Amino acid sequence: MKILVFNGSPKKDASDTMHITRAFLEGMQEEIPCDIQIMHVIEKNIHYCSGCFSCMHGGKCIYDDDMQEILQQILESDLIIWSFPLYAYGMPAVLKALLERTLPLTSMAMQKAGERYEHVARCDVSQLKYMMICGCGFPNSKHNFEPAVAQFCNSFAHNHTVITVPESPMFNAPEAAMVTAPRLEKVKEAGRQYAKSAAIDETLLAEICSPMIPEQQYAAIVNSGV
Ligand SMILES: Cc1cc2nc3c(=O)[nH]c(=O)nc-3n(C[C@H](O)[C@H](O)[C@H](O)COP(=O)(O)O)c2cc1C
Repeated sequence: MKILVFNGSPKKDASDTMHITRAFLEGMQEEIPCDIQIMHVIEKNIHYCSGCFSCMHGGKCIYDDDMQEILQQILESDLIIWSFPLYAYGMPAVLKALLERTLPLTSMAMQKAGERYEHVARCDVSQLKYMMICGCGFPNSKHNFEPAVAQFCNSFAHNHTVITVPESPMFNAPEAAMVTAPRLEKVKEAGRQYAKSAAIDETLLAEICSPMIPEQQYAAIVNSGV
């Protein structure tokens, strides 16, 4: 399986969230051969979308930057993992810029899909699966991840899977290994399941997305260092 990882954390390999993503990929690799490419999006030259819609009419963007190659890489992938920290209840701006610049993959034509409209794809992307892996700094999932999840699921209405993990700075704290190591084992198991069936058991997913330590305890630890 050809897997493209967009790492949206400006911290690159030091990303808290990438601990989750790497565990997931390890699990997948145990089950199937994977050709994995990890892209640190912050390193790419991606101009902001100008909103001119030239791409939707002609299929080509007015900017000649790294997006031409990235669009090609998207089309050649089987799975795209959007790995990012929650920033202001959404994805970091660098990753959002990339997402907006995928517009050339669709035409201006609109079609109704269930209760919503979507643009008609310019290329066949039916093989593509999408995964969101998102870490965040607060201990609460409710009133936190929802806007990012909604944006992701509307952007990729089909074949999407979402993993959100609160308290994720703990992944970079060696003293928290007692709780992070078992969590990463569960993520690995999710990777094994996903490789076999393109799905993750609901109970396992709920466990992965829950806080690793009680909310108040986490907040107290953070506050004691402030
Ligand atoms: C600009 C900025 C905005 C953030 N916004 C949120 C937020 O809305 N909710 C939250 O729980 N954490 C928020 N955080 C905390 C990060 O999500 C958290 O530190 C995360 O573990 C960083 O992951 P990374 O190491 O993969 O980049 C924010 C951090 C920054 C720098």
